[in-house]
Amino acid sequence: MSDRIQAPRGTFDVLPEDAQARAAFEASAKTILERAGYERIETPTFEATQLFARGVGESTDVVQKEMYTFSEADGESFTLRPEGTAPVCRAYLEHGMHKLPQPVRLWYLSSFFRRERPQKGRYRQFWQIGIEAIGSDDPAVDAESILLLAEVLEAAKTRELRLRLSSLGTPETRAEYRDELQRYLRDNEDRLSPEVRDRIDLNPLRAFDADHPGTQEVMRAAPLLLDRLHDDDREHFETVKQLLDAAGLAYEVDPTLVRGLDYYTRTVFEFTSDALGAQSGVGGGGRYDGLIEQIGGPATPGMGWASGVERILLASTPQPAVAPPVDLYVAYAKPEYKTEAFRLAADARRAGHGARVELGGRSLKGQLKQADRAGARYVAILGDEGTALKDMETGEQRDVETGTVMHHIRR
Ligand code: HAM
Repeated sequence: MSDRIQAPRGTFDVLPEDAQARAAFEASAKTILERAGYERIETPTFEATQLFARGVGESTDVVQKEMYTFSEADGESFTLRPEGTAPVCRAYLEHGMHKLPQPVRLWYLSSFFRRERPQKGRYRQFWQIGIEAIGSDDPAVDAESILLLAEVLEAAKTRELRLRLSSLGTPETRAEYRDELQRYLRDNEDRLSPEVRDRIDLNPLRAFDADHPGTQEVMRAAPLLLDRLHDDDREHFETVKQLLDAAGLAYEVDPTLVRGLDYYTRTVFEFTSDALGAQSGVGGGGRYDGLIEQIGGPATPGMGWASGVERILLASTPQPAVAPPVDLYVAYAKPEYKTEAFRLAADARRAGHGARVELGGRSLKGQLKQADRAGARYVAILGDEGTALKDMETGEQRDVETGTVMHHIRR
């Protein structure tokens, strides 16, 4: 025997026993998002590498270390999508969606790829459900989209949820603040971890994320972007908070909230669940008013979020699974009745019933056991004396014409 081939590290199979809970979650999320006017979009699994390099940002971990990139013979470079916002913005531009009533509201449920160190809740291929509202800078878009993720997570019964909220201002404010923070970090360089020190130039904001005690102490006294916002950004943030208050959604303002992607402007937020352990991020997002320009379009505001489906399911109370009912199980006493049994089951399914017939060559006894296990409502048994129809609820059994089985079960 040759070596058994296994799934790649950091990937997983969705087995039938998990698929029910997943399908229930997906159906509930779809209803919530579509009720709010979001329409489904799906983009390709791979995109031009430049889309992410420019959209997500060269300095991010995602672009620097985590992308699965390959080249075609002509030298063109493609990347398995690590996230969905840049692709959806690309599609918005490519299909002239600026001509539609704004904001254009889109949702997606797709798989994404990041070369991360696998652990519980962190995979190399994972699923996200996400939304993007493109074409309006109204703070009500921010508040509504955050409420929608809260609703999706509540419907899934996600445990121990916390919502953190902040604002990053505009790129100009960020640039000024970045200089200020870099000066501050350089002044305290000797107390920082080597990784943070190495990234002062590239990504000083990540210093707030560090779990190194010395760095954490330095960061406690660091200047905060939230205190440097321009008036219009501050007002935008105040309105978002007021709207969330009005809707009764609890949040914590966390001025150190940093997101791993570079396109954010103004509002950013993240839901975490303490039920998850180390990978506690259930979902997050924010506003990205500069992204569409970054990828070659006109200045267009946008706001959205994405949430990891596996993390939601890990942090949620499983919903009872409801398998589709088996209305009819067709059993046969001898192989010569198999064709007729097969046809009866097919007819029943065509008429909209859940119907099964023996596919594993079992004896009649074995077939009846299967019917019982499947929770069949009726069992038809084809044999030498014609067809017997058993009502599994009442236990009552009677002889019927094979051609009338459907008539009986419909009643
Ligand atoms: P993100 O924070 O990178 O944002 O990912 C969103 C969510 O995807 C995370 O909160 C987490 O639940 C899940 N996730 C991320 N990486 C993994 C992984 N390796 N394994 C399992 N789950 C993972 C974005 O992707 C942005 N596109 C969100 C957004 C939309 N912002 C604006 N619009």
